[in-house]
Amino acid sequence: MTLDLVVGKTEEIAPGIRELTLVRPDGRLPPYPAGAHVVVECGHGRRNAYSLTGCGVEPDAYRIAVLHIPDGDGGSAYVHGLRVGDRVRVSRPRSAFPPVATARRHLLVAGGIGITPMLAHVRAALRWDRPVELLYVHRPGVAPYAEELAGLLGDRLVESTDPDEFGRLLQAALREQPIGTHLYVCGPGPLMDRVLTDAAAAGWPPERLHLERFVPAALDPGREFVARLARSDRDVHVPSGTSLLDALHAAGVAVPSMCRQGVCGECRVPVLAGRPLHRDEFLAADERSDAVMCCVSRSETDALEIDL
Ligand code: FES
Repeated sequence: MTLDLVVGKTEEIAPGIRELTLVRPDGRLPPYPAGAHVVVECGHGRRNAYSLTGCGVEPDAYRIAVLHIPDGDGGSAYVHGLRVGDRVRVSRPRSAFPPVATARRHLLVAGGIGITPMLAHVRAALRWDRPVELLYVHRPGVAPYAEELAGLLGDRLVESTDPDEFGRLLQAALREQPIGTHLYVCGPGPLMDRVLTDAAAAGWPPERLHLERFVPAALDPGREFVARLARSDRDVHVPSGTSLLDALHAAGVAVPSMCRQGVCGECRVPVLAGRPLHRDEFLAADERSDAVMCCVSRSETDALEIDL
């Protein structure tokens, strides 16, 4: 279900980064957990997922911050071109990166525009008095929300503009946490990979690591496989380079979709047999044996039986 919203305010909060405040003149906005995102319809069939920066309780507006990507698919340029009063269609908020309520402590690591879901996490942690600290690496002079975060967190915010220094700060932060701390990371792929590698080396168990990719990971075309549609007793061939979602659509099988980036959860399909090759950011570890996000994920086995 989508929401028809109106741009209430638009502001450049850092070079190349524009914050949009979206309001709903005719009704209340659904609440959401910190770390949630909305999928914005960006014209010409493009849909991009953007994190909401509020804590999500009784929101009077949805706020997103969008980095202009000159060589992107045009979605960010579309958002940057929006003006006050323009209408925008967005999905209801979807949660794929929420704080863990039972965590003893929340260690947040953000790189660049990856700060957006972390701002929501910080606001939620402070609202419910949960221990939190933030390690924020950014380019000099391009630090969205840094001032606001400094006011919210004081010395619990550590900033760095130097990759080597960031590495040392990260190592120290990973070592110093009490057992029961959960780690959340969002930023460019190489930064996230580094944080996850260092955390694993420092002995952090995977169930205490949470990540949010704001740019979809580059996906290889994958090998071909067959999707067995159990209910309709049909086989659909999925060639290399074609997504399972597109192959199903080409075969006339209706499957809903929104983001096509593996983050919104819309295209989830139950798996009955075979082994999915998961490439999404949506499914939790305990959901991965019997479901697949067919916009990005594929099959490890020659055939994947799905409940369609
Ligand atoms: S369409 Fe959003 S996860 Fe597949």
